[in-house]
Amino acid sequence: MRIALLGCGTVGSGVVKLLRRNRELLREKLGAPLDLVGIADRSLKPDSELGITARLITRDAAALVERPDVDIVVELFGGYEPARSLILRAFRAGKDVVTANKALLAGHGEQIFRAAARAGVGIGFEASVGGGVPVIRTLREALAGDRHRSVHGIVNGTCNSILTTMSERGDDFSEALAEAQRRGLAEADPALDIEGHDSAHKLCLLVMLAFGVMLKPSQVHTEGITHVTQADIVYARELGYAIKLLAIAKDDDGAIEARVHPTMIPIRNLLASVRDAYNAINVQSEALGSTFYFGEGAGQMPTATAVIADILDIARRRIAGPSARGFPLGYPLGALRPARIKPMSDVVCEYYLRFAARDRPGVLGAIASVLGRNGISLVSVIQQGRGVETTVPVIMRTHETRERNLIRALRQIRTRRIVEAAPVFIRIEDRL
Ligand SMILES: NC(=O)c1ccc[n+]([C@@H]2O[C@H](COP(=O)([O-])OP(=O)(O)OC[C@H]3O[C@@H](n4cnc5c(N)ncnc54)[C@H](OP(=O)(O)O)[C@@H]3O)[C@@H](O)[C@H]2O)c1
Repeated sequence: MRIALLGCGTVGSGVVKLLRRNRELLREKLGAPLDLVGIADRSLKPDSELGITARLITRDAAALVERPDVDIVVELFGGYEPARSLILRAFRAGKDVVTANKALLAGHGEQIFRAAARAGVGIGFEASVGGGVPVIRTLREALAGDRHRSVHGIVNGTCNSILTTMSERGDDFSEALAEAQRRGLAEADPALDIEGHDSAHKLCLLVMLAFGVMLKPSQVHTEGITHVTQADIVYARELGYAIKLLAIAKDDDGAIEARVHPTMIPIRNLLASVRDAYNAINVQSEALGSTFYFGEGAGQMPTATAVIADILDIARRRIAGPSARGFPLGYPLGALRPARIKPMSDVVCEYYLRFAARDRPGVLGAIASVLGRNGISLVSVIQQGRGVETTVPVIMRTHETRERNLIRALRQIRTRRIVEAAPVFIRIEDRL
């Protein structure tokens, strides 16, 4: 089996290392050698330690993916173009493709999966969600016999490491972000991660596999972690919760909830104990119940292991013949329906609320009565003692309510001028 690699950066060079280091093992597992026959990369130089000779390197990716001696194309350029065109070109030339490109698959997945099916070739994308955590194949194969109710994932290691630093060291958001950048866990431009978009891309793929519906990133309600404050982390802990950026999907009788936002989860839940850059995904299935997948969600070697597993899987199918290519999303493509999305205003949650209340008598009662008039009842209230400030923090935890009611109540509270600033609310996921 001959492999062409597009992109020899962080993950690509990990793939080269593993192909070299595990050459004999992979040959035994496959019954045939896996040979790297070409690498397209604009800045790659020969590297004797990695076994990269000048003959392997090309700047002409389009020619490489069409070379007759190539069986499998591994796309690790990242981004939309030229990755998308090269993958389509590879399919047309009869090559199977392995990619880690979640942004591309979330944005253009329908086109890419259909093109693969039309060409009768395979596509592997295990590394696109959870890095080295084998969640794609698990949903597609091991959990295929069950109906899934919900998926809750910590799927962005950068955000999780920032929230861990904030929670354990008491740093504020910008200090924790700077620390993540120092440790190489956050990009110089971290927007894709901290604004939640990377998690939304991964959620799209998880939803397709878990619920058999096509979902686009624009259909995912997406909030990042830039507004999470130290105060909220401390109050959450007092209430028995941790704050995590969760990617959440639920199937409510065909209406799909798909959202990414900071979420309060019970401190004793396994997801709350996921620290630093680790990823974890919890799947709730009807017959099986709750299962949990945990591990290194990014990084060179963890991600490369997922790429190699896809290469091996696809190589085995290639050897077995075209009829063994299977369904990359776990369903025949014709069976995938467009997602019917539940609007956020219909989502039902418990909420954490924080008000900067004016320090005068009757304010607490006034807030509670507006909430009550909107059908929102309270589980608990924390009111800090009076200080020198003109406002006091009032913390409330609500019972379940529809988001539309909460937004209406918060608007009314704001206009009644009993609070100084826009109220803060964080959704709680208690039943995990
Ligand atoms: N890093 C991770 O931990 C991780 C985890 C999961 C998934 N992924 C996914 O894996 C993919 C690769 O990520 P990475 O971190 O390995 O990226 P990376 O380090 O930036 O590597 C990409 C390599 O491809 C080259 N390249 C990009 N576009 C090219 C083009 N048009 N022509 C020629 N060469 C090109 C880059 O060259 P330059 O350096 O000159 O730009 C670089 O050497 C992405 O889709 C990413 O989302 C990464």
